[in-house]
Amino acid sequence: MKVYSGLAGIPVVKSSISYIDGERGILEYRGIPIQELVEHSDFLETAYLLVFGKLPAKEEYTRFVSDVKENQYLDMSVLNFLKELPKTTHPMKVLQSVIPVLSAYDKNTDVLDPQHHYSSLVKMLGQVPVITALWKRISVGENIVEPDSSLSYSENFLYMITGRRPDPVEGRVFDRCLILHAEHTMNASTFTAVVAVSTLADFYSAVSSAVGSLSGRLHGGANEKVYQMLSKIDSPEKIPAFIDRMLQNKKRIMGFGHRVYKTYDPRAKLLKKMLTEISSLKGGSRLIKTAEVFEKEALKRLESKKIYPNIDFYSGVLYSILGIPSRFYTSVFAMARIAGWVAHCKEYVKENKLFRPTQVYDGGHNIHYVPPEKRG
Ligand code: COA
Repeated sequence: MKVYSGLAGIPVVKSSISYIDGERGILEYRGIPIQELVEHSDFLETAYLLVFGKLPAKEEYTRFVSDVKENQYLDMSVLNFLKELPKTTHPMKVLQSVIPVLSAYDKNTDVLDPQHHYSSLVKMLGQVPVITALWKRISVGENIVEPDSSLSYSENFLYMITGRRPDPVEGRVFDRCLILHAEHTMNASTFTAVVAVSTLADFYSAVSSAVGSLSGRLHGGANEKVYQMLSKIDSPEKIPAFIDRMLQNKKRIMGFGHRVYKTYDPRAKLLKKMLTEISSLKGGSRLIKTAEVFEKEALKRLESKKIYPNIDFYSGVLYSILGIPSRFYTSVFAMARIAGWVAHCKEYVKENKLFRPTQVYDGGHNIHYVPPEKRG
């Protein structure tokens, strides 16, 4: 039996949620090019599209936004749970532990019932950004900021995490970042969610499992690592030697390379454009300059291997300009990806089959127990 290491290139589901052409740099959600959604849609509308398979009618959209906003208020016991956690807990660990608790406040946790799909979606879309923002403030001893329902979904998150009302341009740029992170076919975290749901675990358990999977630095954790890497460089002249050293030591350049894209990641292209927009509002920064020079120098060395910037290269730089601390970058990714995870779970349980792969056994047989005093 052949082992398909990392399941690279092995289809595990049939899906109509998103599509990537990694050679041509194309990404579509339900057939719509990502560029069009970034230009015309907003994150909640895109989330609806991903999960329910169509753009919402006006009344559907209004109801959906209102249901999400109604879920922006945490139950006291969830807030107290957050307050009891060690302040050093990484935000991704916070999400991984709190999301399953939210199921206690959902009357319907029957994974086969469409009502659970809707109620868990609006609850997680409503509460996860609030938990993330509150954790930022609780973990550094700042006062809690209450949600403001007069703000858009994205503006409210920026307001709650920074304590400052964002400029509408900042809100819009952040909303587009959420659209770009909302879904990306069958990757490690989505696969994790689908495996969990195939056991008929509810959507909260599936999403919390996916959060754990996303936290690793080969997946969503890369954006925080990119920021740490770029912040260490105090002058652009040092970049070529910095990259050469990394490559000589066989280290991975964070924010570069992708299992599927063998050209420029279309999401990175859009983020780079947004960076130009936001820097004209907020002024350039050393970090932007460093990122631009870094990209040019890294491409000189990696383009021949078809290794290009991915979504994580520019997202951290953008978030830092919006005032989001680097420890929270991967949680922002998770906030957005809830849409994609729920869409895949909903699609998968329709014709559910328990995931139960097999293995090639590579150990011994008939080995006998040795009592402790006789072990060498
Ligand atoms: N920096 C330097 N070299 C890289 C690289 C990177 N970021 N990504 C891939 N490579 C090189 C590998 O060293 C390997 O070289 P070799 O053939 O000389 O040994 C080759 O490219 C293939 O690597 P492999 O790990 O098999 O490719 P993959 O398609 O499985 O890799 C990633 C995909 C994402 C795991 C990989 O590109 C990576 O580790 N990137 C950095 C982390 C990151 O940004 N993750 C977020 C992804 S959205």
